[in-house]
Amino acid sequence: MSFDLTHILDEAKAQLEACPDKEALGVLRVKYLGRKGLLQDLMGRIPGLPPEERRGFGARVNELKKSLEALFAGKESALDGAGEASAKGFIDVTLPGKMPLLGRLHPLTQVGNEVCGIFSRLGFKIFQGPEAETEFHNFEALNIPLDHPSRDAFDTFYLRPFDASRPGFSGQEKKLLRSHTSPAQIRALKNCPPPMAVVVPGRVYRPDAADASHSFMFHQVEGIAVDKDIRFSDLKGILIAFAKEMFGPETRMRFRPSFFPFTEPSAEVDISCFACAGRGCSVCKKSGWLEILGCGMVHPHVFKSAGLDAKKWRGLAFGMGVERVAMLKYGINDIRLFFENDIRFLEQF
Ligand code: DAH
Repeated sequence: MSFDLTHILDEAKAQLEACPDKEALGVLRVKYLGRKGLLQDLMGRIPGLPPEERRGFGARVNELKKSLEALFAGKESALDGAGEASAKGFIDVTLPGKMPLLGRLHPLTQVGNEVCGIFSRLGFKIFQGPEAETEFHNFEALNIPLDHPSRDAFDTFYLRPFDASRPGFSGQEKKLLRSHTSPAQIRALKNCPPPMAVVVPGRVYRPDAADASHSFMFHQVEGIAVDKDIRFSDLKGILIAFAKEMFGPETRMRFRPSFFPFTEPSAEVDISCFACAGRGCSVCKKSGWLEILGCGMVHPHVFKSAGLDAKKWRGLAFGMGVERVAMLKYGINDIRLFFENDIRFLEQF
């Protein structure tokens, strides 16, 4: 019995050549290499051959098997490549595009800009003071003497003097990280002769342990306006205009008498709670009011520190925490969220 194995191989080649896709390839594979395929049929015939033919025939069948397997593998990868190529040439215009990640300003920068924007529309200029401030500007110039009890909460990060032994080094040059933006009042008064009005945004530092409402670094916006006839009513008018713009036109304001060494009289200012419109809720701890800033009329001592005639000038001043304003505005309950750089928090603003 003789089989034309070459013919089988040629036919397989021709069929594979014409095979258009993987489905057709599967059918051919069953035909040639399947369990009941041609190759198995040939192998099944070996035991029935005369002994002298078995060996030679077996070897040829084995050759055929290898050739067929190589042909099928070649065709398979050719079809794979063709699939990729056609996928590459095809653009599905209905697929959504890749969205680029958009950067944005940090919420504290946004709120700080908003605060300064409102005051600049009211005629205030933006002024900046140094974060590494002299002890003199941070305390004494603002009528906070060395032994003043309020210094405890403010006494902050002192910097080693560059060269304290230098002849002529005075205590006035002793530097620390400012505990508030108020020292910039003195610098602004010296730099911008009155009448003047400036706001000072910036970082401040206090020796506080971090918790939900404290941070060793936070931001303030300071304000000072000086003219010959500035009055407490100007202070109220300006701050009410600010609050309505920042928190909405329904906002009401309350001034509570208070004390700051650098203003006289001094007041602490609350706004009506926007969450409950002043009725009392968990945001305002049932009081209906939210504390927002400190303010007052510039103390004569401050004018003197800046070399100005305290009899000639009158001024209003205020200072507020940017984190506090942002927390109230957006209902944020933990100050640490601002500094953790968690994108899930930041991308909400
Ligand atoms: N410097 C004060 C603080 O950090 C805030 C302040 C209160 C600023 C009253 C002022 C002011 O200008 O008039 O607590």
